[in-house]
Amino acid sequence: MLERAPAGRDLYALVEDFFASSFSTDNTLITEAVRRMLSAGGKRLRPRIALLAAESVGGVPSEHLRLAAFMELIHVATLIHDDVVDGAETRRGVNATAVDFGNRVSVLAGDYLFAWIFKNVTADYAHPIPHILSATLADITDGEVLQLRSLGELGTTLATYLDVAAKKTASLFAASAECGALAAGGSPFCVKALREFGTSFGIAFQMRDDLLDLTADEATLGKPVGNDLRERKMTVPLVLALEGADREFHADVERFFAGDDEAPERVARIVAGIEAAGGLSKTEAVLAGYVERAKQSLAPLGNAPARAELAALADTLR
Ligand code: IPE
Ligand code: IPE
Ligand code: MG
Ligand code: MG
Ligand code: MG
Repeated sequence: MLERAPAGRDLYALVEDFFASSFSTDNTLITEAVRRMLSAGGKRLRPRIALLAAESVGGVPSEHLRLAAFMELIHVATLIHDDVVDGAETRRGVNATAVDFGNRVSVLAGDYLFAWIFKNVTADYAHPIPHILSATLADITDGEVLQLRSLGELGTTLATYLDVAAKKTASLFAASAECGALAAGGSPFCVKALREFGTSFGIAFQMRDDLLDLTADEATLGKPVGNDLRERKMTVPLVLALEGADREFHADVERFFAGDDEAPERVARIVAGIEAAGGLSKTEAVLAGYVERAKQSLAPLGNAPARAELAALADTLR
């Protein structure tokens, strides 16, 4: 919807206007740090899903622009913090916030933004929307900490990976879809269907993100590649590669995690090992299963055009 009709383009521009005009504080450092990450772009997937969810239950998307924008703002605050936690230097093609403003200001700017969002959401929206968004933030934090605990743990299972991905990433997609549907007065049946769509979509999305970290190039991605391996993160391609790999590959990953050789050739050797052990192809297969699941969740929505757009969005993850 956002890219199809002229009216759709206007909507998209309105969400952008909201970002540009709404967030400001007396503190110029915080305003600058947040605005820079907002204006650097990004795919705007969470607001898009919120508006499509509203439309798919019969709502008028233009009435839910603020809600859509809050979803993106929550995402931006988590990105600012995530780059501190992951030691990442690039985001959306520009320096990560911490590179220009330092870790201390980044943590505080992210905190400020969260507080600012919740101050507004609690004033603007009735129960259960503020509750869902607060629970989402708790899940994201929980997922990020769980992930830290499994750093470098070669025995990490797919179940643990899925728990982390559901919390750190899928919870915000689920909340975007659910709150979009709720705000537009969707039936409990449709609201539940949209939440389930967001969960499966979000898990598939994180799997694609993990694959891109191994296979994309930094200029296209706008963020570092190979960073997950350098951070010793147990991403899904690595988890699935280790499941079926021989001792030699296990030992090589162990040596890489224990050592300090992060040269591109060394990282490339691990990526080649993941590929040889089937980690990339197995991930593609599991990811496709979540895309299917996401699309099947949409069944209760009937033939709404926005349903087809949500399904098409899920297909882009393949
Ligand atoms: C990045 O999300 C964080 C993850 C959940 C992997 P996006 O890939 O949606 O980031 P932007 O908004 O397009 O920059
Ligand atoms: C994303 O995880 C989850 C967030 C809470 C932002 P990643 O650490 O994989 O995200 P990127 O790859 O840095 O965007
Ligand atoms: Mg992270
Ligand atoms: Mg990260
Ligand atoms: Mg990533």
